[in-house]
Amino acid sequence: MYFGCDYYPEHWSEERWEEDVKLMKKAHFNIIRLAEFAWSKLEPKEGEFDFSWLDKAVSIFSKQDIQIVLGTPTAAPPLWIIKKHPDILPVDENEGRVSSGTRRHYCPNNSIYRDYTEKIVTALARHYARNKAIIGWQIDNEFGGSENPRCYCNNCKEKFIEWLKDKYDNLQSLNREWGTIFWSQTYNSWEEISLPLKRVPADHNPSLLLDFYRFSSHSYIDYQNFQIDIIRRLCPYHFITHNLMGLFNKIDYFKLAEKLDFVSWDVYPWEYHSRGLGTMTIGLIHDLMRSLKKKNFWIMEHQCSSVTRGIISPSPKPGEIRSWTYQSISHGADAIVYFRWRPSLFGAEQYHGGILLHDGSPESKSYHEIKSIGEEIEQWKDILAGSEVRAEIALLTSYDVQWALDIHHQSPDFDYFNHFIDYYQAIRSLGFQVDIVHPEGKLSQYSLVVAPNLILINQKIVNNLYNYVKSGGILLLTFRSAVKNWNNVIMDEVLPAKFKDLLGIEIHDYYSHPKGHENSIIGKEDSFCKEYKVNTWSEILDTSTAKPIAVYQRDYYAGKAAVTLNKYGEGKAVYVGTRAKKEFYKDLINYLLDKEGPLSIIKAPYQVETISRTKEERDFIFVINHTPESKFINITTSCKDILTNKVVEGTIRIGPYGVFILERLKK
Ligand code: GAL
Ligand code: ZN
Repeated sequence: MYFGCDYYPEHWSEERWEEDVKLMKKAHFNIIRLAEFAWSKLEPKEGEFDFSWLDKAVSIFSKQDIQIVLGTPTAAPPLWIIKKHPDILPVDENEGRVSSGTRRHYCPNNSIYRDYTEKIVTALARHYARNKAIIGWQIDNEFGGSENPRCYCNNCKEKFIEWLKDKYDNLQSLNREWGTIFWSQTYNSWEEISLPLKRVPADHNPSLLLDFYRFSSHSYIDYQNFQIDIIRRLCPYHFITHNLMGLFNKIDYFKLAEKLDFVSWDVYPWEYHSRGLGTMTIGLIHDLMRSLKKKNFWIMEHQCSSVTRGIISPSPKPGEIRSWTYQSISHGADAIVYFRWRPSLFGAEQYHGGILLHDGSPESKSYHEIKSIGEEIEQWKDILAGSEVRAEIALLTSYDVQWALDIHHQSPDFDYFNHFIDYYQAIRSLGFQVDIVHPEGKLSQYSLVVAPNLILINQKIVNNLYNYVKSGGILLLTFRSAVKNWNNVIMDEVLPAKFKDLLGIEIHDYYSHPKGHENSIIGKEDSFCKEYKVNTWSEILDTSTAKPIAVYQRDYYAGKAAVTLNKYGEGKAVYVGTRAKKEFYKDLINYLLDKEGPLSIIKAPYQVETISRTKEERDFIFVINHTPESKFINITTSCKDILTNKVVEGTIRIGPYGVFILERLKK
């Protein structure tokens, strides 16, 4: 287990470094991240590298056994580069050149920028390859984390055309696949293709948009992998990671993660809470991050104070940093790196909180809390080392699907993520754990696979889902499945197209609900023979081999099937043709699985999360109270609390933001 912070030696005088390292040691820190924005100090003038200050910082920390992750500094190109080559600045969708003066002001496809990148990354990697204190690298910082992550410069246009040539081989096939005959868009030469700029009189071709989104994503992945190749070659003993941004979806994170040793991400709970998204959302993102490589992950930036620019956000309540930290660990984090050690006195983020306050004194609320978390981790870190989250259920998503649904929202109330999280919440509330898997990914280990709104389909996905059900899996598909091919073109088949046989239904009519409009369905099976409100979208299902398990209540399609179940091979395929209220999903999944999940040995109220990490046959269940009030939980099988060493069973109180790590004593 790694525990530490993000540190910016370049923001402080050297005399202060010694003081900081002492305080970090007292808090049981064993890791820091350095240098991810320090290019102008590492290469103050073109070709003149100066790593002496960083060497000094590295040696001070390593003497105290604090290990180091180095960031490659490419998220902040120094101004001398931009002055010499202003073309490196990206262009936004209004054809405006983005200015320098902040950070992330580069186009990932610019070949001159690649040359500078190669030089600085090579120099750093060579210099630190054999330094024992350095254990790994973070490439760049939060790819895509700017107002305009998609670049529309001429260079990108050329690269996009190359990318298209590679994909479609010839123009005839591109014209055919995209349907460019629509609005007279047929291309006679590759040069006629333009980027989907914003200032156009009408809507762009959705196939062009989807391919451009893929290309943009690919541009960052390619730029990242360019850096990875350099470091792999020069530093074979170091790991390589990148700090991802959770729900950010302009880069295909499954692909971005491929060449990394493990994924890291930056968790700022306040950003979700301020958008009305709860701790459940953060849990889901942790699960997504773990699932990208099916591996434990790092938190490279963890909120530890206010998250602030101009307006100062509330700082975490006493105990809240601890509950967030344990939430991250419980979902599979093996490192907690808090952002940041001490707030800067200057610069754009001068109000952004840190573990210390601006004054640098250790008498800060965050320092005290983090120090005691550090002490606590010492107690259990060996016991939990090597443990991981094992999930019984998979939720499927792909960035291609998310992009297709960003391009065409389908219905005024439709929100892909809200729909997705309703299923997640239902599954979690039944005591199951969840992996988030790509639809082409391996599914055989899951007892249930839920795939919301798989609007795009390809043959690999079709085969994968048929095989999963054939060999005994339970698959749940929803409305807007298999509508389009992988190029975002609608298929001329009766819906649900390629899934007709699997699902045993046909769809000859659907209804897009106007904003706020509702219907209801009624369950036909004993366990959910109730009325549930539905909205957003309703498909009217005709069954062939499937049986209806819920029917619509009102309107011209009253009595028609809304939800169906089809036996196929050894398994079952369920189709939910509408968007129901949360409660329905819980009842439906309960009915399908006919059992509760392993976490249901602990009965906990809403906002008290349970999740377990397993090591060989030992289960460690984290119980986390995400509220400022005490709550009661009921433990139905005796467990040992790893934090207090007491055996617990029955009804017990969990204090405000309280945490238990319970080892289950009997199976
Ligand atoms: C992250 C970023 C950090 C810092 C932080 C502030 O997105 O990686 O450099 O800006 O936000 O919350
Ligand atoms: Zn560009």
